[in-house]
Amino acid sequence: MTTLTSAVRDRVRSLSAEQLPAYIYDLASLREHAAAVRGALPDRVELYYATKANPEPAILATLGPYVTGFEVSSGGELEHVRDVMPDRPLAFGGPGKTATEIVTALELGAERVHVESLGELHLLADLAGRLAPDTPTAVLLRFNLPLPGIASVGTPGGGTLVMGGRPTPFGIDPAQADEVLRPLTDGTYPHLQVRGVHAHLASGLQASESLAVAESIVACARELADRTGVHLTEVNIGGGMEVDYAAPDRRFDWPAYGAGLARLADAHPDLTLRIEPGRALTAYCGWYATEVLDVKPSYGEEFAIVRGGTHHLRTPATKGHDQPCAIIPHDQPWPHPWPRPAAGRRHVTFTGQLCTPKDVLARHVPATGLKAGDRVAFCLAGAYAWNISHHDFLMHPRPAFHYLTETRADPS
Ligand SMILES: Cc1ncc(COP(=O)(O)O)c(C=O)c1O
Repeated sequence: MTTLTSAVRDRVRSLSAEQLPAYIYDLASLREHAAAVRGALPDRVELYYATKANPEPAILATLGPYVTGFEVSSGGELEHVRDVMPDRPLAFGGPGKTATEIVTALELGAERVHVESLGELHLLADLAGRLAPDTPTAVLLRFNLPLPGIASVGTPGGGTLVMGGRPTPFGIDPAQADEVLRPLTDGTYPHLQVRGVHAHLASGLQASESLAVAESIVACARELADRTGVHLTEVNIGGGMEVDYAAPDRRFDWPAYGAGLARLADAHPDLTLRIEPGRALTAYCGWYATEVLDVKPSYGEEFAIVRGGTHHLRTPATKGHDQPCAIIPHDQPWPHPWPRPAAGRRHVTFTGQLCTPKDVLARHVPATGLKAGDRVAFCLAGAYAWNISHHDFLMHPRPAFHYLTETRADPS
């Protein structure tokens, strides 16, 4: 269970069954959270938002005052963010960039291009040479650097997603570093300007783990610069700050992380450090609210079937967790002559309307007395939720979207 704010609860209660399911974005709480994150970081550390977590225009606009820029990972994201947040710095990353996407980045003037392979470097150099020969294109080289030893990485249920330090399609193998740097430093590609190193090695890390990763990336970048004589001025240490779906009220320790980054920045006064979190910025502001359609027993367990499902909120299916939720009893009289389906056990499993056993939102949720017609609000639905879901499967109606903008003080 999770703490439901009065603003979200009141909005859910105000909606009729036909107006559900609905995504509710609490932009007032996002504003507060983003301000706290920015406040915990040293001024010298640049904060970019990884747009892939949730590209909703209202989310981008709310984050605007607190972030330095936006990380985009496709031509689509690039055009979208340029349109919604013109004049804000963009860092364009992602494996497998097409020529069309690179042209878009050059035409829209993406401030940084994160190069992910030797082949991509040649493609970028060729296109930039033709389109922008006199304007240096600023490049960070994304390396697949070793991941320092971290206990939670790779443990079953540890919740981490590892993208570096092992064979992956992301970034450049450090063994290719000299080969990649050569044309950037020997005059072959004078219109590309290598500014530094980018690495995003894992997601789901606690503050001490993220800090260990940051220190290790900076050390690798330093070693590379010292060994090759290349002047590196920027290190982007990626995102991956943990959101704990089993403990939704617990937050990544931004003050401890910020203090650690301040020490790291002080030790490297000539480096600009940049981070690009996604999930840990926006997960908390989003709620997926719905209605219980039916409750029924099945072989000793009980299932509550809700309007909608994982085609709207795919997060629990992709991450293999139970999406935390709050139940909002709906006390309107039951309008039918037959008995109202109700839970007879203490726990139910919430599933959606899809014809697949994978359409599970949360297992064994304490729900004594749950009835058809009650509302359920799934929290932590503001990142990698609607935008990663397979909306069209079974052609159910799409959810509505609500944006709460007023700050409300809830009694603590
Ligand atoms: C390159 C890059 N940067 C940042 C992020 C954001 O990660 P998270 O949402 O875990 O903070 C991702 C996520 O996949 C990524 O691939």
